[in-house]
Amino acid sequence: MATARLLLLPGDGIGPEVMGEVKKLIGFMNERGLGRFETEEALVGGGCYDAHGVAVTDETVAKAKAADAVIFGAVGGPKWDGVPYDVRPEAGLLRLRKDLGLFANIRPAVCYPALADTSSLKREVVEGLDIIILRELTGGVYFGEPKTITDLGNGQKRAVDTQVYDTYEIERIARVGFELAKKRRNKLTSMEKRNVMKTGVLWNEVVTQVHAREFKDVALDHVLADAGGMQLVRWPKQFDVIVCDNLFGDMLSDVAAMLTGSLGMLPSASLGEVDPKTGKRRALYEPVHGSAPDIAGKGLANPIAMIASFAMALRYSFAMLAEADLIDQAIAAALAKGLRTADIRSGGMTVVGTAQMGDAIVKEMAALA
Ligand code: IPM
Ligand code: MN
Repeated sequence: MATARLLLLPGDGIGPEVMGEVKKLIGFMNERGLGRFETEEALVGGGCYDAHGVAVTDETVAKAKAADAVIFGAVGGPKWDGVPYDVRPEAGLLRLRKDLGLFANIRPAVCYPALADTSSLKREVVEGLDIIILRELTGGVYFGEPKTITDLGNGQKRAVDTQVYDTYEIERIARVGFELAKKRRNKLTSMEKRNVMKTGVLWNEVVTQVHAREFKDVALDHVLADAGGMQLVRWPKQFDVIVCDNLFGDMLSDVAAMLTGSLGMLPSASLGEVDPKTGKRRALYEPVHGSAPDIAGKGLANPIAMIASFAMALRYSFAMLAEADLIDQAIAAALAKGLRTADIRSGGMTVVGTAQMGDAIVKEMAALA
């Protein structure tokens, strides 16, 4: 078993608390011979701004590039509301995504049986749900230039964001989508606004071409992104893999998160291109929930999305499929025993804190291993 070198970036708010539970899990796996992990830690986000005046340092970006995988907590909080735009906490995460070329963001939305009643939707709508939102992560309106606010001099200002996509960016994310679908229920849905946006027209065209050229055997649907959002809450089980641009993916994945019971349940993997020489790809794993400043430091946060993100690292970066399954089973088992953090509490269940949930998951792993 080769040693896996991980860069841990806990970040702000509940980030360090949920990362603490991943560290527990790493310690347990190392001890039990279930893995060989070497970890290093660095600052990112508001904490990094306080220490260095930037949201991520060049040194940390270099370490992230050199690591086998980056495990990321969360960034941001009201403390940094007033800091300059370029060094706001979120800028650290965006720079990591861009500099590491992490264009493919995989956000699975799985509804654990024990949580079907926690969702704001009816049980029959979400029970057994298992879909993936595949979000393009290094293009679109997040990074397009110009991105400006100009003073028009007449008491008015003008703000401009630019949505840009080149053919190659759409091709490569579409390929990831088709490949994922092939290993699942063989169905890809592309969501775009081709009726309003030029990028939507090109997106539709390129996905259709990649399908015809390389993936005829996968079923492909195109749905307008607004209607797609509606379908996602109406009957989400009609989907398998949904592919969309950076901004639609941001919004639709938050919607998908609530289908699973809580935003505290959704993990994600952000992957770069496979290096043809080494066969490796850069990768960052993070929970979809943010830094939740309202509950930070209280030991209340749900560590499941963070732990499930670590399981995704095992799956996508280290081909440790059995160990990844073990973690997912341990999460399901802890939930099945009735343990709930506050965000997923329901009648008759035992409400526990971050550390207790982490301990319970490690204990279930020990029992299963
Ligand atoms: C996410 C987050 C980020 C995004 C923020 C923190 C910049 O909402 O990963 O979904 O908008 O991409
Ligand atoms: Mn988001």
